[in-house]
Amino acid sequence: MSTTTRGALLYEGKAKQVYATQDPDLVWIHFKDDATAFNGVKRASVQDKGEVNARISAHLLGAVGAAGVPTHLVEVRSPRDHICTRVEVIPVEVVVRNVVAGSLARRFGREEGEVLPRPMVEFFYKSDSLNDPPMSDEHALLFGWAEAWELAYLRHAGLRVNDVLKAFWAELGVTLVDFKLEFGRAPNGQLLLADEISPDGSRLWDRATGQHLDKDVFRRDLGDLGDTYRALFARVFGHGLDGGAAG
Ligand code: TMP
Ligand code: ASP
Repeated sequence: MSTTTRGALLYEGKAKQVYATQDPDLVWIHFKDDATAFNGVKRASVQDKGEVNARISAHLLGAVGAAGVPTHLVEVRSPRDHICTRVEVIPVEVVVRNVVAGSLARRFGREEGEVLPRPMVEFFYKSDSLNDPPMSDEHALLFGWAEAWELAYLRHAGLRVNDVLKAFWAELGVTLVDFKLEFGRAPNGQLLLADEISPDGSRLWDRATGQHLDKDVFRRDLGDLGDTYRALFARVFGHGLDGGAAG
């Protein structure tokens, strides 16, 4: 384990806190048990949520990194604490979709569940006050949010991450419907996959039952989010949070 220590709180988001460390190039990210939806309109505290997200995210960021997409994760410091490269976050949320759901169904009047002929990449402007509106390359270029090569990288990396995650979840009998990624610029200028890859920012449907295994359970009142997340954890790791029997 490194000697990195936790410093001042730099930023508190809806599900995570970001702290400084004594190394200006590293931050300490703490995953909270807070669940929010609809841009914070709906809120709850869900026991174990932070740990499930942190541990699944560490696992998936590792898999994605091994597949050649560099990420911000440097060290898993505790079950709910990650040490990460400090990045300047690019305010473009990259959503990759395999199946129509959520806002894509709503915006275009399509049926949820329609399988797309190939993965779709959509960009949303990362802004809580504007509710993350859909955006195109033109907005990023003309408003100065990202350069053309960065947008090309975001698309390419998003699709590569999709290949890795789709195969990972398929092995577990889960359909990867869609997910959201965020990227940032590291101090050395490299683009890194940042934030988290977790059931908070993904849609995961059980292939056999169609059951939702992600935050839509909370958004749509489909059941108990804590139970859903603990069961998903057991499916990923083959044991419960305490290391005990799966289930
Ligand atoms: P959407 O269908 O609502 O646009 O969501 C697409 C994907 O992005 C879905 O997997 C959930 C995820 N997502 C986030 O991670 N954060 C958000 O704020 C929203 C709206 C969606
Ligand atoms: N991430 C947003 C929130 O936490 C929106 C959502 O996930 O539905 O409020």
